[in-house]
Amino acid sequence: MSHSVSRRSALRLAGGAIAVAAAATAGTAVPSHAAARSRQGPGAGRRVESLVGRLTLDEKISLLHGATDPKSLGQAGYVPGVPRLGIPPLRLADGPAGVRVAARATALPAPVLLAAAFDPALARRYGQVIGREGRALQQDVLLSPMVNLIRTPYAGRNFETFGEDPLLAADLVSEEIKGIQGEGLIATVKHFALNNQEKDRTKVDVRADERTMHETELRGFEAAVAAGTGAVMGAYNKVNGTFACENKELLSDILRERWGFEGWVMTDWYAQHSTVAALAAGLDMEMPDDAYFGAALKRAVRDGSVPEPQVDRSVRRILGVMERFGLLDASRPPRPERDPDAGATVALDVAKAGATLLRNAHRALPLTGRAARSVAVIGPTGRQPFVSGGGSAHVVPDHADSPLDAITARAGREAEVTYAVGEDLYGKPIPRSRLTPGFDPEGQKVAAGKEWTYDGTLTPAEPDEWTLVLHYSGERPKVELDDVELYPPRPGVGEYFSGGLIAAAPDGLNVRRATRNLTPAGHRLKITAKGGDRGQTFRLRRITGATRAADVAEAVRAARRSHTVVLFAYEDATEGQDRTTVALPGHQEELIQAVTAANPRTTVVLNTSSATSMPWLERTAAVLQMYYPGQEGAAATAAVLFGDCDPGGRLTQSFPVDDDLHPMAGDPRRYPGVDGVEEYSEGVLVGYRWYDAEGVRPLFPFGHGLSYTTFAYADLAVRQVGRGVDVSFTVRNTGRREGVTVPQVYVGPSPDLRLTQAERLLGGYRRLTLRPGERRRVTVHVDRRTLSAWDVKRHDWRLGTGRRSFRVGTSARDMKLSATTVVKGAGA
Ligand code: BGC
Repeated sequence: MSHSVSRRSALRLAGGAIAVAAAATAGTAVPSHAAARSRQGPGAGRRVESLVGRLTLDEKISLLHGATDPKSLGQAGYVPGVPRLGIPPLRLADGPAGVRVAARATALPAPVLLAAAFDPALARRYGQVIGREGRALQQDVLLSPMVNLIRTPYAGRNFETFGEDPLLAADLVSEEIKGIQGEGLIATVKHFALNNQEKDRTKVDVRADERTMHETELRGFEAAVAAGTGAVMGAYNKVNGTFACENKELLSDILRERWGFEGWVMTDWYAQHSTVAALAAGLDMEMPDDAYFGAALKRAVRDGSVPEPQVDRSVRRILGVMERFGLLDASRPPRPERDPDAGATVALDVAKAGATLLRNAHRALPLTGRAARSVAVIGPTGRQPFVSGGGSAHVVPDHADSPLDAITARAGREAEVTYAVGEDLYGKPIPRSRLTPGFDPEGQKVAAGKEWTYDGTLTPAEPDEWTLVLHYSGERPKVELDDVELYPPRPGVGEYFSGGLIAAAPDGLNVRRATRNLTPAGHRLKITAKGGDRGQTFRLRRITGATRAADVAEAVRAARRSHTVVLFAYEDATEGQDRTTVALPGHQEELIQAVTAANPRTTVVLNTSSATSMPWLERTAAVLQMYYPGQEGAAATAAVLFGDCDPGGRLTQSFPVDDDLHPMAGDPRRYPGVDGVEEYSEGVLVGYRWYDAEGVRPLFPFGHGLSYTTFAYADLAVRQVGRGVDVSFTVRNTGRREGVTVPQVYVGPSPDLRLTQAERLLGGYRRLTLRPGERRRVTVHVDRRTLSAWDVKRHDWRLGTGRRSFRVGTSARDMKLSATTVVKGAGA
């Protein structure tokens, strides 16, 4: 991998520069062979065959790996076409929350927020926006959706995916893919498979048994194939001893033989490890370069270690998809214009629909009357919008308003809205007097080609914890404190994938932070900054115990002066790195304690990636989970706070009470792995199923989320129909406002399956918006797949027959109705 590190670096830096500049469910069997063929129409295969016959070996190989795009638009990947045969190039762009190129695009809310809406139709609209924009922005392939399950609360990419439940993930991925591809953009479901963490992601060997794989992680991928995904991206990690990108069981036996996938498989970026083994196992395309599928592949064909028909097979798969999308036609499908307004509408709808109200004591929300006229907004993301998470899912948004502005506008002229940062992210100037010799740490400019050095002493006034915050453009200056580098290069992608919030200051400079305990005895400070080609600007700032205390005091004063407080708390997740705790980072817990002590009418708005512990929960009036809400996050947050819409979201992952009470706690073999091996020993008991099995109370259960109105559930009827079970019930809005409820059907274990089974698992759900007094009869179909378990002897699904419970709940822990019925086997 070493040779690729520099190219990878270049890629990541390019990505960083972008940020700076802009500051059918699996259960319904899988007729995919037939479906794919009918989509292609008659004659399709003939054209592909004819092309394969006319391509030279070099041309064929050029289709099987990435290359440098002569006209790059800032996207992640490129495959040159073969112009002499009318094969166009392919441009491949990330990602899960919008199109990531150098240009602006609609920054949609993070997929975890989309998932919270429990609304497959919304997932389709989300996909449509990305599909259209991808085409408009000259892209052909989208590197999304990501359907890996949330298995550990620490995983750095939990915000990029749908949650911990296989059924919900399958439903959403399927509709999103239909949305994307319906607009003519080829979707790539990723990362196949068991890429459920960032820690050691390029090498960890994930061990999961056959049943666990099929009943949990694989279901979403199977649904993606059934929905017609054009491409699949292999994961970085190993699966049961073999790298995912050369894993025959995954890439051939399951994906193609069992599920009938006819598209192509590409690697994750630099995830390839072999030439002969990878191609034979079923990999088709190396990304983003040609370390294994370039000259090495040609040599392998020449010396006979790779039969040329194997190369043809991969070429055929890629051309087959291009054919299906009209990309081989003489007149290719026209590219649409972007429609930023339509994108913004969907971004806003999703952010409102997924907004999840976790707590609302004494109906603190929505803000009305006095509560709406005197508001203190506190917290860094109260002013600076937290649009998207870090890494390849980061999108350059069309625009993003400040939540403070949105709240101020919504509160109206009569209201008083004040602001205090409370927790500083970017630091305050270091007084010149603390530096000997003195220099201006606030705005150092180094001309192109020049180098600037400093060797002096930093002397704090008193012993204190200092966070030294470096802001810089260009190459990161080297800063040493007491002869130790403060901001060392981060191994792997960590250097280039920084978080979505703290990594860049509001004016676009890159940011790195380091915390040390300093004393008034003085500390040697050395800085070397290079102007590079374009010159550089940097500043060195500080956050100390003293500046923090002042920020908290200011926040407390603001809280005291106002009737209501809206406190924004953040957690800055990124690809390439896991979190180390479920607690809020920095000193935010102390800030929340201080502010809630001053004013208990405090609503905490969470701009976090995934589960968060909340030791401060009981002291708050309300908690609203907004995740990374995309470019329209400010408007959506204000709309929910003031009750212009109902908070429509429900949790798609269990929130643990703390770091000791979740499925990974206390077992490093389970997470993050020991000696490079990680055991999925929780088996099928992923997410809420583990909490039920272990009798552990989560802080908030899967499916939880409150409405501003109330609902009643009645008249449950359960009956087996055809290949599944219909669960019918009546829901009534018993309150005085229109509102959203998401009744969830949970299925109990089968007495006939002598296996570890979940006490209950999600069998279906329905998102409903009801007017006051409105009543709706609902039937949720639980499909055969959900009622089945994977039989390791027959390597197939087996229906869980016998008397089973069917419960309707408003979360995995809050059941409203319950009945049993006997599930009969086929032919019964
Ligand atoms: C990520 C993929 C992404 C690719 C291209 C990789 O590091 O894991 O999800 O699509 O980069 O940016």
